Amino acid sequence: MPVNTVPTADWVTLEQLAEDPYPVYDRLRAVGPVTWAPQLGRFLLTGLDDCRFVEANEDLFEIEQEDSPLKRAMGEVMLSKNEPEHGVERAAINPALRPKVIAEVWRAHFEAHARQVLERFRGLGPGADINADFALPYAAMNLGVVVGLPDVPWTDVQRWSLAFIAAVANVQEDPRVSEANRIANAEADAAIDRRMAELAGSADPSMISVMLRAGLPPDLVRANAKLAISGGVNEPQHVLTSGVHALSQHPDQLAAVRAGEYTYTQVFDEVVRWMPPIHTLMRRARVDVELNGVTMPAGSLVWILLGAANRDPRHFEQPDRFVVSRPRRPHLAFGSGPHICAGSWAARSSIAEVAWPLLYDGLPGLTPVDDDARFHGFFFRGLPGLPVTWETENTK
Ligand code: HEM
Repeated sequence: MPVNTVPTADWVTLEQLAEDPYPVYDRLRAVGPVTWAPQLGRFLLTGLDDCRFVEANEDLFEIEQEDSPLKRAMGEVMLSKNEPEHGVERAAINPALRPKVIAEVWRAHFEAHARQVLERFRGLGPGADINADFALPYAAMNLGVVVGLPDVPWTDVQRWSLAFIAAVANVQEDPRVSEANRIANAEADAAIDRRMAELAGSADPSMISVMLRAGLPPDLVRANAKLAISGGVNEPQHVLTSGVHALSQHPDQLAAVRAGEYTYTQVFDEVVRWMPPIHTLMRRARVDVELNGVTMPAGSLVWILLGAANRDPRHFEQPDRFVVSRPRRPHLAFGSGPHICAGSWAARSSIAEVAWPLLYDGLPGLTPVDDDARFHGFFFRGLPGLPVTWETENTK
C-alpha cells in the first residue's frame, strides 16, 4: 500500500518487541520518525510529538472500530469509540476518578488495603514476591472499591482482568481464552447488575454509581466497569514492582527519596516514563495524512509507540537512564488526547502516596533477592516476578 519512498522497517518482529523493544526503537529512529512495517501491516511512530499529534487529532486518526478486539472482549467500551460517543461516557466516569475524590474518598481505602496486604506479605517472610504477593492483591483490591464492587473477592477481580486482557490479545482465537472470557463476562455482569440494583438512587462515589447517575444505560455501565477492571489491575501492579526494581538499581536515588530530597511522586513519574506498562496504542488514518514527509494513506493502521516516545532524545536528556530528579516533562505513559487514562490519579495516589512509602518504612532494607530481573512483554510490559528480602529480627 505505501509508496516505495516510505522508510521501511521489514525486520521488526513481535518477538523482538516483547523481549526488549528499546534497541528496536533506537533502530527505528535511525530509519526515520515514521516507518512502515509491512510484516506488521502498520506504520510505526517513535517521536513524542508525532504520537501526541495522532492522539490529539481524531478528525485525522480514529480508534479502529471494525472488528474491535476490545468490543469482542468486553462489549461497547469507551476506549473503542470516537467522539462524540466517547466523550459522553468519559464524562460519566470522570467524577469517580478526580484527584479530589481520590484524596477524600479512595485514599483511605488504599491505605487500609496496603496495611492489610503488607501484614500478610510480612508473614510470608523474605523471598516473598513483591509482584505476585503485594502489588497484585493490592491493585485488585483498590480497583474493586473504585469500580464499585467492594464485596467481590480480589481474586475474582484479578481473574476477570486477566481473562479480558487475554481475550483482547486473542488474535489466534484460542477457544480456551474465549471460554475464560465468556465466564469472566458472565460473572462480572452478574456482580455489576447486583450492584446497580443496590446503588440505584444512591450518592455512592464509585464508577458504577456515577455512571448510573449520569444516565448511562446498563449495557454501557457494564462494559465500562469491565474496561476499568481490564486496565486497572495489571498496569498499577507492574508500575509498583518496576519502581522497587528501579530504586534498588539506584540506591543513591532511593536514599535521596527516603531522606525527603525527592518525592515518591517524582519516582512514579520517572518509573512510568522509563518503563511504561503499556507500549503501544493503535489508531487508523481516516484520510491520507502526511507526517514528517511520509504519507500514510487513508485506512492505514498506525502504532503510537509509547515506550519509544517516552525515551525520545529530543525531549529527554539521556533518555535510557532512570533519573528521579529529571525535570518534569510531559510523557506518554498514560496516553494523551481524549482517551488519556482515566485512572492515572488513582494509580499515582495508590502507588506513590501510599504503597511505596509504606513498604520502605515497613520493610527496612527492602531490596530484590537477585539482580537479574528481566522485563517482558510489549503490549503490556513488566516484571513477571520480583522476589524481595528485607531486614527481620533474625537478620538484624
Ligand atoms: C499506572 C497505571 C496505568 C497506566 C500506565 C495506564 C495507561 C493507560 C493508557 C495508555 C490508556 C490509553 C490512553 C489512550 O488511548 O490515549 C488508558 C486508558 C484508560 N485507563 Fe488507564 N492506566 C493505568 C491505570 C488505570 C486505572 C487504575 C484505571 C481505573 C481506575 C484506568 C482506567 C482507564 C480507562 C477507563 C481508560 C480508557 C479511557 C478512555 O477511553 O477515555 N487506568 N490507560
